[in-house]
Amino acid sequence: MSHPSTYNPSTGFEQWLDKRMPIVRLAHDSFVDFPTPKNLNYWYTFGGILTVCLVIQIITGVILAMHYTPHTDYAFESVEHIMRDVNYGWLMRYVHANGASMFFIAVYLHMFRGLYYGSYKEPREVLWMLGVVIFLLMMATAFMGYVLPWGQMSYWGATVITNLFSAVPFVGDQIVTLLWGGFSVDNPTLNRFFSLHYLLPFAIFGVVILHVWALHVPGNNNPSGVDVKDVKKDTVPFHPYYTVKDGFAIVVFLILFAAFVFFNPNALGHADNYVPADPLVTPASIVPEWYFLPFYAILRAITFDFLFIDAKLGGVIAMFSSILVLFALPWLDTSKVRSMRYRPVARMWFFLFVIVCLMLGWLGGQAAEGVYVTLAQICTAYYFAFFLIILPLLGVMETPKPLPKSISEAVLKKTKTVETSPAPGIGGAQPAPAE
Ligand code: HEM
Repeated sequence: MSHPSTYNPSTGFEQWLDKRMPIVRLAHDSFVDFPTPKNLNYWYTFGGILTVCLVIQIITGVILAMHYTPHTDYAFESVEHIMRDVNYGWLMRYVHANGASMFFIAVYLHMFRGLYYGSYKEPREVLWMLGVVIFLLMMATAFMGYVLPWGQMSYWGATVITNLFSAVPFVGDQIVTLLWGGFSVDNPTLNRFFSLHYLLPFAIFGVVILHVWALHVPGNNNPSGVDVKDVKKDTVPFHPYYTVKDGFAIVVFLILFAAFVFFNPNALGHADNYVPADPLVTPASIVPEWYFLPFYAILRAITFDFLFIDAKLGGVIAMFSSILVLFALPWLDTSKVRSMRYRPVARMWFFLFVIVCLMLGWLGGQAAEGVYVTLAQICTAYYFAFFLIILPLLGVMETPKPLPKSISEAVLKKTKTVETSPAPGIGGAQPAPAE
């Protein structure tokens, strides 16, 4: 959102720099006096939380890489060496491993928030699509990172997932050979995964900068979904209002993070990954990390051939489409109203969508047989129907609730109710004592 700059370089050095490279002005205009809707709730703190997650992953990752050896003969041992011999190595590793999970918890909440408040709609389509690019990069990074300790689940997970590409018609086998750097998951695979796992977080960092740029042009959406009409009435400066709110949320998030790291650091991992990789022994069940499970369920839900597409290729197409469909979301949702607060019918379907995603997550961890497959098929059908049928139709058929005229009206209406009917007890207005 363009707004007049209030930055006033005070020292001589600041004035000197401002004339040559106004980077402090840019930071000031973007993160100090940036006009931000006054009604943002805690769901809006996850962008900041994600930035912290990314920084934590990069710092701990760089330190781990100082002691890790990307070779099939030494990788597993080098991770054990980090855990036992390197000063605070155990801490770096547990923070990094649990950090990946925390990152995904935050990103899923951030995405559902965007879905609920219609933050992908005009004029924020590019912002949303950059988010989807970040999400894809995060998945690739996490997948390759999991291979590095070279445990049983690393090896077999990598084998199963890279093999999926063999389903691509004509060039499938060539793609797989290229990914592997040979004819099976082996040392060249580990090496290229390490190299890319180190590289991609910096690519994510770059896309996050674009993401925030694309956010700052139209400015934040907000829970009411209505645009800022009057900058004075509808917004507050980002600092101190949202620096403090984001800061508080980050601290609460870090407490949860620390609880995992210090009290149950292996809760989210798989015991099989503490067994060194063995190409001759397949684990009883091969399950990806929890954050991939919904997509794994979609992959395995396609158990039938369809026209000239066999089941394996169908599963791969369904899995990739479940993410790619997000790129088209800004155009699939035809409603003029952004926030689901004012879309009672869409809201119901949205909550069902959240339940379906959780169900898919659970199903991804079950054996692909019997009722689990049927349930996964129903959930997959709903997942796609939500984007391809329900949202496009609802935009035309649903009658939304009346929208507030402005953000300040949406906020002040609430305050008025509090003023006229004070809550009794602490915090509520008490009748003045009789003199
Ligand atoms: C490393 C990952 C990410 C980082 C660091 C990040 C960062 C941010 C930040 C700082 C904000 C502003 C504060 C907020 O609204 O929470 C934001 C907003 C937003 N992000 Fe992300 N983001 C990430 C991933 C994603 C993903 C994966 C998506 C969607 C696919 C996404 C979609 C959005 C949208 C739509 C908004 C605008 C929300 C609104 O104004 O209502 N972001 N992001």
